[in-house]
Order: sequence, then structure tokens, then C-alpha cells
Amino acid sequence: MKKLIVTFAAVALLGAGSAISAQQSSAVQADIDAFQNHFKSKFPNLSLNDFSKGPYAMNEDKFMQFEAVMEMPPFEDLRDAGEKAWNTPFANGKTFSSCFSGGDETLRVQYPRWNSTSGKVETLEKAVLNCNKANGGKKMKSGKGKLAHITSYLTTLAEGQVINVIVPEGDAKALAAYNQGKNEFYAKRGQLNLSCANCHIDSAGKRIRGNTLSPALGHITHFPVWRGKWAKKKGDGFGTIQRRYGGCNKQVRAKPRKRHQSEYTNLEFFHTAMSNGMEISGTEYRE
Ligand code: HEC
Repeated sequence: MKKLIVTFAAVALLGAGSAISAQQSSAVQADIDAFQNHFKSKFPNLSLNDFSKGPYAMNEDKFMQFEAVMEMPPFEDLRDAGEKAWNTPFANGKTFSSCFSGGDETLRVQYPRWNSTSGKVETLEKAVLNCNKANGGKKMKSGKGKLAHITSYLTTLAEGQVINVIVPEGDAKALAAYNQGKNEFYAKRGQLNLSCANCHIDSAGKRIRGNTLSPALGHITHFPVWRGKWAKKKGDGFGTIQRRYGGCNKQVRAKPRKRHQSEYTNLEFFHTAMSNGMEISGTEYRE
């Protein structure tokens, strides 16, 4: 009985105006279970958090190379610049933190989230861009540069926080956004006529043009990433998850979509929910 009272008290507390109390849609929970069980049975030697290492989780040699790079990460200075930018006041004296609630270390896992007032999904990157604009900050790029430095700092702060994307039960609009993101993930596209799922579910662990394909489970635990490939091109190597979506669309010769519009934002909502229960692993290196 005592336990029951404690439980009721906890529920009442959470219920006080907090979105965290919303119950997960049962349809979404069924998707998450099926998605995670697929990978768990395909790779029985990996623990849930192991999947966050992407291609490096698929091959021991590659994992050792990854660990060697992470001992002295090539992105440290840029991430430190992100920390500094986060804490430097705008001309009006406010800092980025003033746009958010909850500790800075929880921000990565507060997003992506459903906003029932606007009827849209919000992502952390878009919220940082909005905050910058609202406070008269200098314009930032949408998927790399300063934005990626700042949000990689937030990802690093969030190390160990658990992903828990909620699509509220009974909210038809939220479910529709989730389903649009799900469709974006499973629809074939481009001249190669391949879906995200074809490569990152059906072929996870297989090799393609010198790369090992990562499992879609755990895809988002470490973004923005610093990639050797991006460092060789324009920019400094950093990119957000939506920059990566664009790159993967190009791989199948499909036109990338615009960042922070509903297709990619809803994809991020679906894609992140599939990794519910996994820990944020902090900013990581990728080839
Ligand atoms: C032709 C196969 C192919 C398709 C289709 C494809 N990707 Fe990829 N993707 C790759 C390759 C190759 C890489 C680099 C190696 C890796 O991490 O899998 C990659 C990397 C990624 C990564 C980075 C993983 C990490 O840990 O760094 C993400 C995230 C990702 N893809 C998401 C997607 C999404 C979402 C879609 C659909 C919009 C998609 N991909 C479609 C081939 C593909």
C-alpha cells in the first residue's frame, strides 16, 4: 500500500503541466520493440548501447581504430569553441541557456519533441537557431559550423542521459508527424531506388564501397559528429544529423531535402524514437 501511495504521488507530480508525463503511443512502442528486437537478434553479442558505435560496432579492427582516434579527438578545439559560444552573452546580455529550461546537460534528450501548441516537432538544432535569431545573434549555418560546435558541446554534456522520445498516446497530429518520418525512412528514393532501411536495416554490417554499413539502431546517440570526410571538403569536419541525412540522400542520387523542414524533422523524430532507452554517448569521430 505504501508503494502504491508513493507511485500515485510521483504520477501526480509529473502530471503537473509537464510533457514528460505523456504516455507513449502504443503503436509507436510496438514499432520500437520490433525495431530493437530485430537488431538484438541479428547481433546477439552486442548490448543495446554498443549499437551507438555504428560501423565500428560491426568489426573489431575498426573499433580499435576508432578508439585510438578517440583518445585524442580531432574535434576537441571546435567543441570547446562551441562551449564558449554557448556561454558568451548576446548583445542584450542573455546567453543561449536563457531560451531553454532544465539543466544544459538534459537538452540533448529533451529533443526532438512534440509541441502540441504549434502542432510540430521541435529539434534541438532548430531551437538553438531560433534562440540565436530571437536574440539578434549573427546568422548561423543550418547543419555545420558554429551551430554544430554548440550542439556537439550539448551532446557531450548529455553523455549518459537516456533517449526517450514520446509520441503522446491519443494525439493524432503527433502520430501523423511520426508516421511521415517513418515513411521518409522506409520509402525508396533516388536513381538507386533505395530506402534508409535497405542500407541501415537490411544491409547493416555489410560492406558497401569500402564502408561498413551501420545499424540504424543508435544512429543518433553521438551527433553532431566530426567526420574525416567532411574535414577534407568544405568546412571543418562537423555536421549535424540533418546534414548526414542530406549526405545519405545524395548517396542514392536523390536530391537532399531542406534542413529543418517537416520531412527531415519528422524523420529525426522517428529515427531518434527508435533508439529510445539508449544512452547519449557524447560527440564522436566518424570516417
Ligand atoms: C546506399 C546505402 C545508404 C542509404 C540508402 C542510406 N545510407 Fe546512411 N549511410 C550509408 C553509408 C555508407 C554511411 C557511412 C557508414 C555508416 O555509418 O553506415 C552512412 C551513414 C549514415 C549515418 C551515420 C551513422 C554514424 O554513426 O555516424 C546516419 C545517421 C545515416 N547514414 C542515416 C541514413 C538515413 C536516415 C537514410 C535515409 C534518408 C540513409 N542513411 C540512407 C549508406 C546509406
